[in-house]
Amino acid sequence: MAEALTGDVLPIVECGDPVLRRPAQRVEPASLGTGAVQRLITQMRATMEAAPGVGLAAPQVGVPIQLAVLQDSPDRWAHLSDSDRAARERSELPFMVLVNPVLLPVDEDGTASFYEGCLSVPGLTGLVARHRTVRVEALDEQGQPVDLVLRGWPARIAQHEVDHLRGILYLDRVETRSLSTGDKYAELWAGRPPAEAAAALGFEIS
Ligand code: NI
Repeated sequence: MAEALTGDVLPIVECGDPVLRRPAQRVEPASLGTGAVQRLITQMRATMEAAPGVGLAAPQVGVPIQLAVLQDSPDRWAHLSDSDRAARERSELPFMVLVNPVLLPVDEDGTASFYEGCLSVPGLTGLVARHRTVRVEALDEQGQPVDLVLRGWPARIAQHEVDHLRGILYLDRVETRSLSTGDKYAELWAGRPPAEAAAALGFEIS
């Protein structure tokens, strides 16, 4: 894939826009070979990197199709201590494109609650319980089948992005009493166990 250019960065749609609340349309696999879709992928990658973010779904750039890009890497978790990174099971996730993805939770691995944010919901972060492990079935950008198991933070990213393709925002799943502005999160809750926020703000960790 060609290296992303600054000019490829697209505006990110913010919550309140109906495009974020409608189920996205399935992608016709034959369309993946077209210049239009490949250019969209390049633009979405550039937009995710510029934000910076670890995932971006096509509806977030105003395109209502079932396509998302994901990537996590050490530069994106540089603000976390080793123990925070380990608690989140955050590990390198190579750049990938998921087309028409379906997620199958691995229920025996349970759930995990951590702070999550969204480029379409600027300024806020809150605790979201997600499946620790999910199986992902999708197509990649060439239309080849993807079938993989993601665990920890990569599983969280996939669940967040696939939600976007269903018209769901993390605000629909967040423990609302945990919602913090970025400044308050940095001041009070960064680097502390979610249980301390739960005790102070008055909610149960699910
Ligand atoms: Ni999001």
